[in-house]
Amino acid sequence: MNYWVVLPAAGRGERFGVGAPKQYEALPGGVVLEHALAPFLRLSSTDLRGVVVVLGSADTRFATLPLAQHPQVTTTTGGASRAASVLAGLDAVRARGGAEDEWVLVHDAARPCLSAAELGALLAALATPAGQASGALLALPVADTVKRAASQEANAGGTPELAVVAATVPRDGLWRALTPQAFRLGALTAALENALRLAAAPGGSAPTDEAAAIEALGGAPLLVPGSPYNVKVTLPADLEFAATVLRSRAERTRHD
Ligand code: CTP
Ligand code: MG
Repeated sequence: MNYWVVLPAAGRGERFGVGAPKQYEALPGGVVLEHALAPFLRLSSTDLRGVVVVLGSADTRFATLPLAQHPQVTTTTGGASRAASVLAGLDAVRARGGAEDEWVLVHDAARPCLSAAELGALLAALATPAGQASGALLALPVADTVKRAASQEANAGGTPELAVVAATVPRDGLWRALTPQAFRLGALTAALENALRLAAAPGGSAPTDEAAAIEALGGAPLLVPGSPYNVKVTLPADLEFAATVLRSRAERTRHD
């Protein structure tokens, strides 16, 4: 199955908090972004139509990576939200000859531990009738009990980092959305344009994943069970976890 990959990498990593984008943090065997792209370039290069990496306007690091010379990899400049960055990536796919009904897999530059098995499961899901109709995303059933916190005002007089429970949210049927998320080029473009239009209205906000934009137009994407190792590097502890995962995978291949 032919597909394109869009890798949004235009974020600033504010929660990570080192003053430089987290996608360039070092891990065993390469930086975060290099690991994020590796499974796509490794697995089914014959099916891969091309990769678009979406960079921040001030990015000077990407051009220094060997990846920048890869024949299938091109770059474009992102926007103020993840949705705007992905939309810029989709424009670049179209400029490279992407057809409206072709699949685009959107994967966070900040997810360095995607496995070949997860990627295979996602692609297989796209071949099912439900996947064909609305696309699919990797996701994980929520394991912990989930609490909703009261608004900050309800916490008046308390310590700012402590929150008060307002409710317990039944976790039945709750999943955490991971990436990659796969949708057709035309459908995803229309969905993100719609989402950004709504976000521009007073009180609006941009969706934090592609599926939310598709759902808002009535789509019902497939949830494909992913791996808990497919961590998104958000905080420094996530980088340590990712390093451990990659090191143990490298160990295993050495012993095979
Ligand atoms: N991203 C992007 N363009 C934006 C915002 C985010 O391309 N305007 C990308 C990030 O580079 C990342 C992915 O979307 O690969 C997921 O976003 P997130 O984890 O929130 O990364 P950051 O926005 O960089 O981090 P933070 O929210 O802590 O600033
Ligand atoms: Mg962000």
